[in-house]
Amino acid sequence: MLSIADKNVLVTGGAGFIGSHLCDELLDREAAKVVCVDNFFLGKQENIEQAVQHENFVLYRDDARHFGVMQSIMEREKIDVVFNMATIALNYSFFNPFDAYMVNVEIANTLLELLKVGAYKTLIHTSSSEAYGTAKYSPMNENHPTDPTTPYAAGKAAADMMVHSFSKVLDLDISIVRPFNNYGPRQNAEGPLAGIIPATAKRIKNGGKPMVQGDGEQTRDFIYVKDTVRGLMLAYEKEESRGQIINLGSGKDMSMNTLLQGISDYMGYTGEWEHQPERTSDVRNLCADIKKAKELLGFEPLVDFESGIKETLDWYKDNCVI
Ligand SMILES: NC(=O)c1ccc[n+]([C@@H]2O[C@H](COP(=O)([O-])OP(=O)(O)OC[C@H]3O[C@@H](n4cnc5c(N)ncnc54)[C@H](O)[C@@H]3O)[C@@H](O)[C@H]2O)c1
Repeated sequence: MLSIADKNVLVTGGAGFIGSHLCDELLDREAAKVVCVDNFFLGKQENIEQAVQHENFVLYRDDARHFGVMQSIMEREKIDVVFNMATIALNYSFFNPFDAYMVNVEIANTLLELLKVGAYKTLIHTSSSEAYGTAKYSPMNENHPTDPTTPYAAGKAAADMMVHSFSKVLDLDISIVRPFNNYGPRQNAEGPLAGIIPATAKRIKNGGKPMVQGDGEQTRDFIYVKDTVRGLMLAYEKEESRGQIINLGSGKDMSMNTLLQGISDYMGYTGEWEHQPERTSDVRNLCADIKKAKELLGFEPLVDFESGIKETLDWYKDNCVI
């Protein structure tokens, strides 16, 4: 089993939701250097407030798509490992489908070219359950067909195919993790790219109604962000994961109605809900089969939804987001 201690690690999208938790974890585990490359499209300085205090943390406000930029950062910082976390959230597909797609493909392309020429040694690439599209069977294992329904998801699926095939043909040191729906502190709460949990809590707090799209019986597999970060770390540490695609989820699904009810109950909201038409191209059901993660990584989700949602909403309250 490898150790991240003493490694120089680069995190693309490290000022975002999951990436910032990953940076904190890498620093806690004594990585020699944690280099965050984020263009702050959705990243936030407050997400990395804790990390910037650390002497081993280095921040570049840059675009991870650009080969020259990434090459010079890797040379200067002598990078060993890259965690690719940068993306633009799914809802961006409805405003700018081309960029929503291309950002995923272009960053993967740059990272692969740099891995091929030996600019660093190991790539842990982050996919998304959205690459599968709606469940054709459930729970969904890694052999489930990919049938993306949005440009974001198509970009994730295309990047996965590129990364996976390169890892085989060129024998590169790559693992691909495929997280399901993450929730937890620091998920974006603002504007049209907000996560459903902070967006709903904010509406209730501001005197609005929880908003349900369609019949609310769409299901998702919610995983607490710190469980995902543990899974990402295990993907690096356990070399058995090289050349593999591995789901990271809770293994349980939950309907949007149940989720909104849980948030309403926790916030003491008993009023009506606002009903909107179903979102175009919405995935109907997602639920992870996490057998492979258990077998290859020894991964188990440790935070149940009841504790996770409480911690999340308390964090939003304490940080004046709601
Ligand atoms: N949040 C989820 O539920 C979820 C589920 C499955 C997979 N994922 C994947 O996990 C990863 C992290 O997601 P997240 O929820 O933290 O998203 P996020 O939007 O919070 O973070 C992404 C970060 O990438 C940055 N970024 C965007 N374009 C960039 C570029 N060209 N160069 C450098 N930085 C750039 C953004 O500024 C942001 O800080 C993504 O790959 C995402 O597809 C997330």
